[in-house]
Amino acid sequence: MASDTATTASCRLTGTPLEVVLDLGEQPLGNGFLSSADDFASEYFYSMRCGFATDSLLFQLIDQPDPGQMFHSNYAFQSSTSGFMSAHFKALSQTLAEEFLAVNADPLVVEIGSNDGVFLKHFASRGVRHVGVEPSDNVATIAEAQGVQVERRFFSADTAAVIRESNGPAHLIYAANALCHIPDIRGIVEGIDLLLAEDGVFVFEDPYLGDVVKLASYDQIYDEHVFLFSGMSVARIFTEAGLELIDLEHLPTHGGSMRYTLGRRGVRKAKPRVESTLASEREQGLHETVTFCELADRVARSASDLKRLLEHLAGQGHQIVSYGATSKSTTVYNYAKIGPELISEIYDSTPNKQGKFSPGVHIPVVPESDFVDSGARFAFLGAWNHEKEIRMKNEYFEARGGRWITHVPQVRLLGD
Ligand code: SAH
Ligand code: TMP
Repeated sequence: MASDTATTASCRLTGTPLEVVLDLGEQPLGNGFLSSADDFASEYFYSMRCGFATDSLLFQLIDQPDPGQMFHSNYAFQSSTSGFMSAHFKALSQTLAEEFLAVNADPLVVEIGSNDGVFLKHFASRGVRHVGVEPSDNVATIAEAQGVQVERRFFSADTAAVIRESNGPAHLIYAANALCHIPDIRGIVEGIDLLLAEDGVFVFEDPYLGDVVKLASYDQIYDEHVFLFSGMSVARIFTEAGLELIDLEHLPTHGGSMRYTLGRRGVRKAKPRVESTLASEREQGLHETVTFCELADRVARSASDLKRLLEHLAGQGHQIVSYGATSKSTTVYNYAKIGPELISEIYDSTPNKQGKFSPGVHIPVVPESDFVDSGARFAFLGAWNHEKEIRMKNEYFEARGGRWITHVPQVRLLGD
């Protein structure tokens, strides 16, 4: 049943409504795992449709569930569950400190969406002044237990003013996989402008629109991901606040991300790869609606290919399971209509998801540690973005004849 508590993301620079370029149907909350079958009947669904704003060049959800429904005291995603991502944030904390903070005697670091402290704990342990902005209480508590200072609120212009008032300006503002979650992008731009020191930098990384188009990885789209950014759209939305791109770095994380570094206009020199990345985005057509209409056709094909493969394997009597109860896979299962009749269970390392049912299609989620005892011959990589880490730690699965299934960049059995 569709609910009427969806909000409309405020991302057009001029007010005209967006046309639908990709319709992913009725979807539940990507992280809305259900504790009991009694909750199925009242589950929240909304219409997941995407539009492309020809003025801001933002690819985005047209409607988004109210953020309070997604980020709360029981938020399911915990950053430190991935060893690779933990290492990524540790290394980055070092690089950013050397590149941007070394000249300042007492710098301030602010992180938007600090989750369980996976990034900021490396500043906390070195005695660097910092503030994590995190609205989800359960993960904020984990961060605080590691010495991280947390403001338990949504980042906005008001939050930025509060932080500046008590701490002064920030020399580094960082956000990973968080900015794309925030519908009020104008409020973010205003907040960054308010909080950033004159010579400060704003660095953020998020799943990259260019990769979604290239890989047809439509599962990067779910309720929490309101926007898929590109260098071109970021340059446009921050222009008004006098911020400009000084670096663009493509990353392999989360199935293809981009790290955007912005500074105040004229303060720092842009790296040459900013220009070259923007040029390749134009070549890829990331500024044109037609690119996303073509993407929609490839997405429909991907979903039907996946369902056909699973039905074929199930028809041969094979048990199929999934690995990684990701919010991404919520989009896949609900769009392609894949439920427990095709995937018997999902293995996942996050305690908060175990023993629950996946959103919408209600596949049981079980502890990752039980995978070793699974008799299944086929496992769908719900967490395809963590393929390397998952295959490495489960080498025995392939050694005993098990096969991984992925749908990115096309539906196939790995190793074929
Ligand atoms: N940075 C971490 C967490 C990403 S998950 C990582 O990359 O692993 C996104 C986080 O952003 C969640 O912890 C969520 O609670 C938080 N969040 C959502 N909306 C926010 C907002 N408006 N301001 C700050 N954090 C927000
Ligand atoms: P993400 O794609 O949003 O990072 O979510 C990854 C999910 O996969 C998360 O629920 C944790 C789970 N996971 C495992 O169960 N085992 C693993 O080895 C990894 C890397 C992730």
